[in-house]
Amino acid sequence: MSEMSEQTQPSTALRHSKVPADDLATQVAALDVAQLTEAEATLWLAQLASAISDANAAYHEQDAPNISDAAYDVLRRCNSAIEARFPKLKRDDSPSEQVGSKPAEGFGKITHAQRMLSLGNAFEAEDVADFDKSIRNYLGLPAEAPIAYSAEPKIDGLSLSLRYEKGRLVQAATRGDGSVGENVTANARTIADIPQVLDDAPDILEVRGEVYMSHADFDALNSRQAARKEKTFANPRNAAAGSLRQLDAEITRARPLKFFAYAWGELSAPLAETQIGAVHRLAQLGFQTNPLTARFEDLEALLAHYRLIESQRATLGYDIDGVVYKVDDLALQSRLGLRSTTPRWAIAHKFPAELAWTRLEGIDIQVGRTGALSPVARLHPVTVGGVVVSNATLHNEDYIAGRDANGQPIRDGKDIRVFWIICVRRGSRAAS
Ligand code: IVH
Repeated sequence: MSEMSEQTQPSTALRHSKVPADDLATQVAALDVAQLTEAEATLWLAQLASAISDANAAYHEQDAPNISDAAYDVLRRCNSAIEARFPKLKRDDSPSEQVGSKPAEGFGKITHAQRMLSLGNAFEAEDVADFDKSIRNYLGLPAEAPIAYSAEPKIDGLSLSLRYEKGRLVQAATRGDGSVGENVTANARTIADIPQVLDDAPDILEVRGEVYMSHADFDALNSRQAARKEKTFANPRNAAAGSLRQLDAEITRARPLKFFAYAWGELSAPLAETQIGAVHRLAQLGFQTNPLTARFEDLEALLAHYRLIESQRATLGYDIDGVVYKVDDLALQSRLGLRSTTPRWAIAHKFPAELAWTRLEGIDIQVGRTGALSPVARLHPVTVGGVVVSNATLHNEDYIAGRDANGQPIRDGKDIRVFWIICVRRGSRAAS
């Protein structure tokens, strides 16, 4: 169920030169922030700011990530932990004050009437309980006061803001750095899920949501691209981002993009009194909204919905990377307000990372029923996708040597050796 993918030389020492982001994540995962001196913390914050900024540019500007989502989260969490311990070392260019990346050259720029924010993350049920407690504290509500939350899948695409004036689509902008996005109006007009005209809409209505590509459309697009010897995409999110952010909107038109609406920006009149009511209104106006969006009155039910969505993840037909919880009452949302880059009233409960780093402790050879020999990696136990993994198949001798079934190099031809720090990835989408 798990397989090896990449490896690096073991290293825990703090390096002063630029370190590849995935290697940095391995070092950071082993770091004890409580033991850092101020001088070490300063160096780490500099390395993290540079690695996170590079990762943001690769992901948001080039649509070609240079680091896994899990490793990115490790870097950001470590940065926040060091900043929390040494607040005065927080850099002016601190990654915790940044959303996305600045708009790319070539596109017109649009200043958002209301900033497009990011979401804080929860990884464990306790983080969700802390989120609920922080909301109650902020509002001065006792533990037993009812607070309803909405819960919906976190779509793994790219966010888009659509501005309608008097019912007509006048502008579409990517998130960019949260304040200024890219003008992709012509491109958005080619997406079937995005209405050009709305009936009975407020005079000013900014609808926000996620542009994404389904698994089936992604596979078909990549086959077409490969047949024409054109660029293929690493995953549906990159394909969606690369397809929307085209200077020639006719290329976008030929790409099968979809859109889920889940939020809004400037409004001349409220959509509803609750988050769920507003999402229903968006659906009535003609937008696609996610069918797994629901409202819950207690944390247990919220977490049960998270598990339900997680159990359906492999069969939804599009990528999601967690569940977003939002305070349902919009009056409470506005009392709670915003932090510098995230709202206080929402949080993303991420699914466990499907990728983790650990030490290869040995390689055993198993003899199958047919007599076939299959090497098995013995790993220092590590949690991957919420499961503790201590063994992983190495398939065969060629796989260990860094060659595929046709003798072609895999992992850039690197072999696998005992005591290396290796990356373990959960099995394929269908198997997860
Ligand atoms: S709410 C003020 N709901 O996640 C917060 N965001 O990590 C507005 N995303 O920038 C966002 N699915 O691109 C919200 N159901 C959902 C989402 C969602 C995906 C993205 C969105 C946002 C990012 C934050």
